[in-house]
Amino acid sequence: MMGNLAGTTEDLMQEDKEMIKDFFCYTPVKLVFGEGKINETGIYTSAYGKKAIIVTTGDYFREIGLVARLQNILKESGVDSIHYGEVNPNPLNTQIDAGAAAALTAGCDMVIGLGGGSAIDAAKGIAIVLGHDKPIWDFCMGDPVEDITDKTFPIIALTTTSGTGSECTQWSVITNKETAEKPGIGSDYTFAKVAIVDPELMYTLPEQATASTGFDTLAHAIEAYTAILSTPVTDLYCEQAIRLVGKFVRRAVKNGEDREARNGMAFANTLAGMAISVGVVTLCHGLAHSIGGVAGTIHGETLAAMTPATMRFSMKSAPNKFKNIAMFLRDEYPGTFSCSLEESLEEVESVINDLGLNTPLSKQGLREKDIEKAADGVIRYMGGSIENDPAMPNREDILQIIKDSF
Ligand SMILES: [Fe+2]
Repeated sequence: MMGNLAGTTEDLMQEDKEMIKDFFCYTPVKLVFGEGKINETGIYTSAYGKKAIIVTTGDYFREIGLVARLQNILKESGVDSIHYGEVNPNPLNTQIDAGAAAALTAGCDMVIGLGGGSAIDAAKGIAIVLGHDKPIWDFCMGDPVEDITDKTFPIIALTTTSGTGSECTQWSVITNKETAEKPGIGSDYTFAKVAIVDPELMYTLPEQATASTGFDTLAHAIEAYTAILSTPVTDLYCEQAIRLVGKFVRRAVKNGEDREARNGMAFANTLAGMAISVGVVTLCHGLAHSIGGVAGTIHGETLAAMTPATMRFSMKSAPNKFKNIAMFLRDEYPGTFSCSLEESLEEVESVINDLGLNTPLSKQGLREKDIEKAADGVIRYMGGSIENDPAMPNREDILQIIKDSF
């Protein structure tokens, strides 16, 4: 559909003539990518410590033997380890503090996150607590918030999803059940020293988790690409990430053992993760955190419910960027394509529908009486996502976006 927001390839040509904007870019992660790379974990991590705490969400990876396999791989390089599986999806501050206590008792000097974003985020939290001997919540919502320093223990990340990008970012998202808050924290010291991205670990990821984490990847790429903090470097990452999602996410959901699709999505996730390390995220992620804190929703599903409304709100403020999203998702190029904002919206909605993620917030557990609380949460502790959004929404705008996605 060509709506009245239609643009032409001339817009793209015009953008090409612009000066390169000033930018800052820092993604200090030793990245190891490829099938079977878990077998090299010991080689890459032995420089950082002698005993690791391996953090997982629950005991599934222990039960299927993956934890023991990793422990043997580490042992071959002289690294001892213990396992800690007392972490929820959406890790709790109390579980992070308990993990740090277990690591301290066992004499661990580094932290390995094995899993999706929740395990890796929890690993980062444990590394912060171990380095500073203070509860993790002091670094989230303390008054004043404690600084995360170079005392943070070394972090190693092995991702089993594609994904949250956490293995490539400094960000850690932590939930406090008592306050119903879910802030994202991070510093230069919470990047993993090493990130192992092994697509083989993703073959058994269930269909629903493949869909929701796959959409998270797309949301990261769209938000970092259209963000105030976007850079010419991260724009390249985002463009390629969106193209890969357009090509492979449906295939990865349909057949988890489609090697090419898993490989493509693993790379898309890596690129989008590096992009949000620098370009960060915008309103949709800020809302997903706040709504997740209030209603305990699944991150990727919440993003899918809200991305159309946030795109519709924000795209008029960065039309040249938002128009390109349809082109990237279709894997088309300037000169062969006429683009419009409406088409970008339709392409994203098509991904949401094809992945079975078209569930409104009301059916994900958000109650109508908590809408205002969710809006206030974004403003109170995810203000950076508002300031980084090209459209700079106010409270009324945020409330309307939640209602439109409800
Ligand atoms: Fe995310």
